[in-house]
Amino acid sequence: MRIYSPWLVLLTAAVCGVTAKEVIHTASLNFDGAGHNLSSQNNRGGWVNPEDLTPMPQCIAQQDQSTWLSAMTQCTGKRCTSHFGVFCTHHQWLTQLSCLSTAFSSDVIKGYLPYCSRSVLAKAQLYVWVREHTGRTWLVDVGDANELQNLSPASLAEGYAAVNVMYKAPTCLTRSVSALSMEPFHRVMASCSFTSTTLHTGNAARPWEYSGSLRSMIALDFETVGYDLTHHRIGYGNYFDKECFCSAFTIDPLQEPCSGPGQIDWTKERLWINATCGPMSLPDNWMDRLKTTEFAYIPIEDWHWPTCVTDMPKQVTGLTDQCATDACEIDSNGYCKVKRAVDRACFCHNISYRSCGGSCQIFETRIDYVKWLHGLCGSVQDWHGLPDDWRHLAVPIPSDMVPWRWTIQPSNTSDNAPITLPGSIESTEKCASNEEKLGSFALINIATFLAAYLGRRTGLHRITRSFLWHPHPWGWVSTGLLIAVLQLLANCLNAFLVQSTFGYEDTPVFQLMLLWCSMPRPAWLPILLITSQPFEAMNFSAAASSLLAEMILQLLSSYYIIMTVDYGLKHNFYFADMEGVERGTSAKTMYAGALLWFLIIGVAFVQLWRTIPIMNRLTGSGNLDLPKWQRSTQRASNNAEEPWAYSNEHRTRSGENSAHWKTKSRTLEETSLMSDKGGIHKSYGTLPTESQIDWASQKAFMNLHVVTAISMLLLWIAQWLFWGGFISLSSEEFCPPRLGILTAVWIVFSLAGAAIGATV
Ligand SMILES: *[C@@H]1O[C@H](CO)[C@@H](O)[C@H](O)[C@H]1NC(C)=O
Ligand SMILES: *[C@@H]1O[C@H](CO)[C@@H](O)[C@H](O)[C@H]1NC(C)=O
Ligand SMILES: *[C@@H]1O[C@H](CO)[C@@H](O)[C@H](O)[C@H]1NC(C)=O
Ligand SMILES: *[C@@H]1O[C@H](CO)[C@@H](O)[C@H](O)[C@H]1NC(C)=O
Repeated sequence: MRIYSPWLVLLTAAVCGVTAKEVIHTASLNFDGAGHNLSSQNNRGGWVNPEDLTPMPQCIAQQDQSTWLSAMTQCTGKRCTSHFGVFCTHHQWLTQLSCLSTAFSSDVIKGYLPYCSRSVLAKAQLYVWVREHTGRTWLVDVGDANELQNLSPASLAEGYAAVNVMYKAPTCLTRSVSALSMEPFHRVMASCSFTSTTLHTGNAARPWEYSGSLRSMIALDFETVGYDLTHHRIGYGNYFDKECFCSAFTIDPLQEPCSGPGQIDWTKERLWINATCGPMSLPDNWMDRLKTTEFAYIPIEDWHWPTCVTDMPKQVTGLTDQCATDACEIDSNGYCKVKRAVDRACFCHNISYRSCGGSCQIFETRIDYVKWLHGLCGSVQDWHGLPDDWRHLAVPIPSDMVPWRWTIQPSNTSDNAPITLPGSIESTEKCASNEEKLGSFALINIATFLAAYLGRRTGLHRITRSFLWHPHPWGWVSTGLLIAVLQLLANCLNAFLVQSTFGYEDTPVFQLMLLWCSMPRPAWLPILLITSQPFEAMNFSAAASSLLAEMILQLLSSYYIIMTVDYGLKHNFYFADMEGVERGTSAKTMYAGALLWFLIIGVAFVQLWRTIPIMNRLTGSGNLDLPKWQRSTQRASNNAEEPWAYSNEHRTRSGENSAHWKTKSRTLEETSLMSDKGGIHKSYGTLPTESQIDWASQKAFMNLHVVTAISMLLLWIAQWLFWGGFISLSSEEFCPPRLGILTAVWIVFSLAGAAIGATV
């Protein structure tokens, strides 16, 4: 058998003085003997060699052994073991067995019992010794050992734990004394400890000895209490009986061994007591202010920052260091495992939503930041770091859904409100309502519409032509360019008008101008008006100039519209659920408008690509922008020294159309076809029996025309959606001042554009 359990030995040394010292002295000796047989051949007429007696039980070794030893001494005497005749040749100190049964009376045992009966296993070990040496089946009173006869694991009512858990207790606890008995922690622990099997702690071969110098029996060994007393086995090691420990060691709730709730040891102590003895050994509210990583403390390794951490000021990022402390992570057994952690309350009380600016206040990073902050501090008592309407900040706010960052606002309001919340604006100049803004657009459209329509009907173009225009037209290209430039000029002028207003000095002129290019204009109208006329009478150059102007403006507006589509896709506005998002519908409208615009442009281009090869084949040239017979139209009109369209239209209305346009068409087609495809001759009669190629050409052109007109109309609708959504989305951030003047400028320029367009 091995000798081990150094801490038990040391412990006994501390408790038992001289004898124990000798135990340590001889502790290096090994013993490999059989059991003890008191009635062995060493039994010399009721006297036995002390070393054949069973070693001292653990609970006796841990107490003052003097009574025990004197009882043994009293039964020990010098006996002659070898005779030669009447002479004695050899003396030996022997112990009389019958004496022991009287020496170890209940009175002697009584003194040792309180300590020995703390642990049922220790008591059982004592009982076995007493029964063996005295033959009694009780210790002090009859029947007091009945429960010890048949031990089982269930006899340890509260179970047991490894002695090693002692190292999980703070030193202030292990150095303290029990409030009840003033007994030191270690001593209580020793009294309740046992080993997996009975072990010897000293000289097992010679557990007892008579010391002549001390004139007393001394113990050179004692046996530890073994779990095998329960007839069951457990893993090798040192254990202690929880019931024994928890009843013997108590703490005073008013004066706990480890003081100060702020100290980690205080938490360690309470957790240790709870894990070992259960919550009943602690005050009712023992869990208050525990420094555990359950909630109040966040282990450093579990700490994470929101994405906008790079924009956080040093005071905030440094908080994790300032608020770092030790806290207990409760292990599976309920004991404390000290971890470096951040004090949640300390951190939260030093941070609020306003602590971080920059990207922490912008859209997705803001949403992430708000959620992080709420998750971190939302349940911390007395923390009010988030604004009352923080739930609005945790979803996209209207300004997040505008794809660009500039605004048209008086600078005074944008200064003190980094994020503009609805209702937080106290504009110095009242912002025009959304209806007014959209109304001004409608007004411009109606004016342009009327101008184009009435102009065509009343011959406005003739008047404008005679006043403004050189009789020789500049051609559709220059007209188209001019119309576009006029529109840009209007935008530019207005942007400067806005910028020159007090408080609007920061207005980005160029961006505003570009954005206004996407304003809905009824450009489809001139094209549609032409389509309503008979084919041969159509003024294609007017349409072409109008188309060119529109193409230039749409090209410019594509910048913001494509930006919108891109932004919408990137931030998932097209597919995300906008339920509960403030002005989500407006945003959806705006993004839908932009997407519609994008799709229409795409489809129109596809249509164009499909039509152009036909046109090329028909016109026989690679000149895409102006088909042959349109040029011939111009030529014809030039030759006539009179606007072709006008005369044509005029005649149409005055009833002599049929004959005329047949002639016209004949000229037209002859010019066109003869010049390029001279080989093809057709007959032109009074009935419109037209050549196949001519018919195809017309059809292709009509197709192109219809596609263009419809695309324009749809683009116009898309732009209305875009602007309608945008204006209601950013009603406070898009506040151009002097709306009336701006509108007037646009109307004037649009009318001028319409007039120029009509002159071609
Ligand atoms: C003790 O001795 C008796 C007789 O001397 C013997 O019958 C018994 O088996 C012994 N017991 C042990 C455990 O050696
Ligand atoms: C306290 O002990 C009980 C039972 O021993 C256990 O259920 C509980 O989780 C422990 N409490 C803490 C905070 O560890
Ligand atoms: C703020 O942080 C400091 C440490 O930087 C801490 O001492 C203080 O208690 C915290 N404030 C609050 C209200 O918790
Ligand atoms: C802001 O408005 C106040 C009056 O409300 C005015 O005194 C101040 O000059 C304005 N500041 C700016 C930058 O326009």
